[in-house]
Amino acid sequence: MALQRLGVLTSGGDAPGMNAAIRAVVRQAVFMGIEVRGVHKGFQGLVDRDWPALTSRQCANILQRGGTILHTARCQAFLEPAVRAQVAADLRAEGIEALVIIGGDGSFTGADLLHREHGISCAGIPGTIDNDLPGTDRTLGFDTALNTAVEAIDRIRDTASSHERLFLVEVMGRRSGMLAVHTAIACGAEAVLYPESAEDTFEALVNQLRSNWERGKRSSIVVVAEGDQEGGAMKVGERLRSEFGLDLRVVVLGHIQRGGSPTAMDRIWGSRWGVEAVKRLVAGDTAFYLGMDSGRLVSRPLSAIHEPRPEPPRELSELVAVLAR
Ligand code: F6P
Repeated sequence: MALQRLGVLTSGGDAPGMNAAIRAVVRQAVFMGIEVRGVHKGFQGLVDRDWPALTSRQCANILQRGGTILHTARCQAFLEPAVRAQVAADLRAEGIEALVIIGGDGSFTGADLLHREHGISCAGIPGTIDNDLPGTDRTLGFDTALNTAVEAIDRIRDTASSHERLFLVEVMGRRSGMLAVHTAIACGAEAVLYPESAEDTFEALVNQLRSNWERGKRSSIVVVAEGDQEGGAMKVGERLRSEFGLDLRVVVLGHIQRGGSPTAMDRIWGSRWGVEAVKRLVAGDTAFYLGMDSGRLVSRPLSAIHEPRPEPPRELSELVAVLAR
């Protein structure tokens, strides 16, 4: 029988562009005569059966808004097999035959389990500012977060050069250096530290700063990913102060990077993926997530989420030192 009712949820850290995807899911579904339920607070809303109807009119003027109108959460309870079994039974009883899940790798892992164990059709839309999902060049929120970080660092640069100071600026990324490396290039940083880097990052940083100084550079900006091997910008700063007596400043950009109005690219991809997710569910696809490969919209099986996470391309991280000369 044709799909009649689907649920949409956002899960994990919020990311600009999630609202664009929600709006597109709802409007494409309405266009195809399908009812949509908006599940509140990610997987927690499935557990709580908190899934009221979501209409096209409720999606008015959300395209340009950051965050997620459905709210989000990281739900530990969903790790329990018994909880997933109950959720599947509740979804069936309610007539919700398929889910669109907007989130990152944890969210897609949950979706994969729900499908494999209980046959609930699940479509994933990549939504995380970290841009660290296998099989897609882009995730919703990355472009916006990158631009936010670059804009903030441009301001810090004014002060750094006026005072001839070293600034360590921490960007998000507990397990991923994607945001850090791209930010570093876009703001002309003198160095970047990030979790996947193969080198002894602290020693490399000291050498880099020393060589900058010898070449007459009197101010520097170092971008540090939250999850770098030293444990973030505060720790790196403490070590530089105590071992070398440097007068430096640390700025942690934090959640400023996650909020704000999505860029045009995040709105466009949120819209494209939202529409495609519904079309594919209607066509009978049951367990997939969408992505972008060299500018093209692609679909991958949900199980591909377990493939290795992409790392910042080495040719990009190597550019940082070259361009700082
Ligand atoms: O996954 C996105 C992300 O912003 C990471 O970069 C960051 O480490 C994490 O979420 C922070 O999560 P929370 O807001 O729950 O502290």
